[in-house]
Amino acid sequence: MKIMKNILKCLIILFIASISIACSNDSKKIQINTIENFDFAWKFHEDDISGSEKTNYDDSNWRAINLPHDWSIEGNFSKDNPTFSRGGWLPTGKVTYRKTFLVSESSKDKRTVIYFDGAYRNSEVYINGNLLGKRPFGYIAFYYDMTKYLKFGKENVITVKLDNSNQPGARWYTGTGIYRHVKLITTNKLYIPVWGNYIKANKVENNQATIAVETNIVNDFDEDKFIDIQVSIFDKKGVLVALQKESKTITKNNSIQHKSSLSIENPLLWDTETPHLYVVKTDILQNGETIYSETSKTGIRTLEYSNSDGFKLNGKATKLKGVCLHHDGGPLGAAVHRRTIERQLEKLREMGCNAVRTAHNPFSEEFMNVCDEMGFLVMNEAFDEWETPKSPTTTQNGAKKKVLVHKYAHVFKKWADKDLTDFVMRDRNHPSVIMWSIGNEIAEMRYESAAKIGKRLVEIVHELDYRPATNGVHGYGSLKRPNQKAAATSDIYGYNYIKDWRLKLEREKFPNVMAVVTEHESAQSFYPRSTYLYGEKKKAWWDKLGYEKKESFDWVEKRDIRGESGMEAWKLVKERDYLMGMFIWTGWDYLGEVIPFGWPARSSSFAPIDLAGFPKDGYYFYQSQWSKKPMVHIFPHWNLEGMEGETVQVYSYTNGDEIELFQDGKSLGKQKNNIEGVEYQTWNIVYKPGELKAVSYKNGENIAEKIVKTSGAPSKIKIETRKTEMQANGQDLIYAECTILDKDGNEVPIANNLLRFDVEGPVTIVGVGNGDNMGLEPFKANQRMAFNGKCLVILQSTKESGNVKLTVQSDGLSSNTVNLISK
Ligand code: GAL
Repeated sequence: MKIMKNILKCLIILFIASISIACSNDSKKIQINTIENFDFAWKFHEDDISGSEKTNYDDSNWRAINLPHDWSIEGNFSKDNPTFSRGGWLPTGKVTYRKTFLVSESSKDKRTVIYFDGAYRNSEVYINGNLLGKRPFGYIAFYYDMTKYLKFGKENVITVKLDNSNQPGARWYTGTGIYRHVKLITTNKLYIPVWGNYIKANKVENNQATIAVETNIVNDFDEDKFIDIQVSIFDKKGVLVALQKESKTITKNNSIQHKSSLSIENPLLWDTETPHLYVVKTDILQNGETIYSETSKTGIRTLEYSNSDGFKLNGKATKLKGVCLHHDGGPLGAAVHRRTIERQLEKLREMGCNAVRTAHNPFSEEFMNVCDEMGFLVMNEAFDEWETPKSPTTTQNGAKKKVLVHKYAHVFKKWADKDLTDFVMRDRNHPSVIMWSIGNEIAEMRYESAAKIGKRLVEIVHELDYRPATNGVHGYGSLKRPNQKAAATSDIYGYNYIKDWRLKLEREKFPNVMAVVTEHESAQSFYPRSTYLYGEKKKAWWDKLGYEKKESFDWVEKRDIRGESGMEAWKLVKERDYLMGMFIWTGWDYLGEVIPFGWPARSSSFAPIDLAGFPKDGYYFYQSQWSKKPMVHIFPHWNLEGMEGETVQVYSYTNGDEIELFQDGKSLGKQKNNIEGVEYQTWNIVYKPGELKAVSYKNGENIAEKIVKTSGAPSKIKIETRKTEMQANGQDLIYAECTILDKDGNEVPIANNLLRFDVEGPVTIVGVGNGDNMGLEPFKANQRMAFNGKCLVILQSTKESGNVKLTVQSDGLSSNTVNLISK
């Protein structure tokens, strides 16, 4: 017991030493590897600046910036931008980044790697004038060993050139820039390469988990090395729960694949509600001294997939209540911020969502980390195109056209295998990943040629990992059904857009396939949040947008473009045990792909949450179906000026079994709600200003209430932040949500007052937004008009700590201030 305690003590000391960037001036000691945040102090210039890769190039008049950075989001929306409606009318082009940095003399005997989690796109990276490599795919992480080009004890210059000028270049907004994090990794010449440590935590039997760790170790020394490889697992309190140590010899200039297997008794399992994580630490020791050390997190869970019971997490049937997401963060564009992701996932979790599909490309490392920590199940998707390019509908000058986009197809043959390999290698340690997706609506899936490609891609996935592969395909069961040989290449059939009859046909013909609804419409109309229009006003709104499709004009989702309505689709998925679940299109609105609209729309409107993060009505439909927390929601709002005396249709969503509506205190009766049957209610009510109250009951007990009230004139501003503290690291964010209230504190759901934001203390305003998908004001500003009562401002910390004050003002309204802190 005492020995065990001592080992434990030593290990904890070792652990702390390694994460605190151990270094020593004692020349006999070998410095442990380091990972440096390389996001700060870059220089930026628009265009491809000739000669800027050279060391002596003078960039003193270039703009100073920190990463992650998206240049496109700083631009103005314009009808002339060649990104068109697909790219949200924002500018793209060529851009160049430079960073000058000192490399110490002591790095001479080390290996120095530069790691980019993603740069959009066609990157060329140079160190001191030497080309390290090119990478066309803008969503992939990549790295280069720069050791041989470095000048030790001197300044060195990295230059990154990006080219996103070939437009339209995507079916949605991509951003332009080094929009993800960059790291500088320094190791000894004996090391584990990037993504070289593979942790499998998917076996649990009789309350005992087996963790398999496969470690690639490289010896770049010109001599053989005798080493110990030690793998330790710690629980979240830092207590050692498993340890394995083994000795090996690696011959000079060689590498080995080392396998460890560790057991944990009574493991705390990772699941969607309690996502327990363990820390796995891999140390390489020489003569008892650590020469390399790396830590990762893992979550222990079992994953089962079947053609009868769908998906099981830890032995329990778990329906995927999923959303597709695109990678952008609304007002911040493509630039990745951990807090943006956390906020997105917090709101989705409150909606009852438990799964995300990374539509339709690799996401950031932060995104995967946050999913691990919050217990989201991830369908991790690689591609939107294989060899055949797509020509999506694009709106130009009011006319709809099919426009070829220059996206990935032209590089697929050369790069797909490498991109897919790197994608799986980067993400395979994440417990949140439950399946891979090799494509979305791949054009060639209707032809046998896709079978060969599909087979190859799935083989790559299987070679690297134990989780199955799916492929989101549109047209199953219809005349456009994919080629069967091509369809059969994925482990799990992915249905994009379902109909009842198609599912029946499909199941009859292929009773043994495993299946998931990779994509389907959401239960949300095309209207922006809190937009309720009647008569002439409604007609004018649609006429202005030049769109004619009567079923789309309803406030509940009746788009019925390619499948059942969102509500109906959820019912079909719910009643079929074999379907693993569904992913709605999309969880949040995203920039670009403004269909069915054209200019002036600049962001999509499919989702139950708008671009600024405010829930729309559809959000509450999913909450009523997916969340257990008692809730009731009614809409429209009750500020329907001009509708006095007219009959108005009111909708309600609840997870109670009965609902009662009151108008100005008088009951209008009760309606039943069959939760299993995926129901919602409609009520015809004669409008008069006043109050509507919905009361939801379960087994006769009042479980939730919701009031909508005709408000008075705008009078004051409510400011809400989910956090009041931020990290003074130059990267953390606080989102402040503003709501306009009347003098009695009622929300004014039609207010559009201009709000001005002032900050005091060590923060900057990095974005504003309001959720209006047709708002053409820039996102980088310190003022914004509210849209239907709401507005958003985003603050970013600096590296200084201190008190922060945010003041929001508007003409004619009393101002408001919140006190925050950065530390
Ligand atoms: C799907 C496609 C998505 C998005 C959506 C818009 O077919 O997979 O990427 O374009 O349509 O409705």
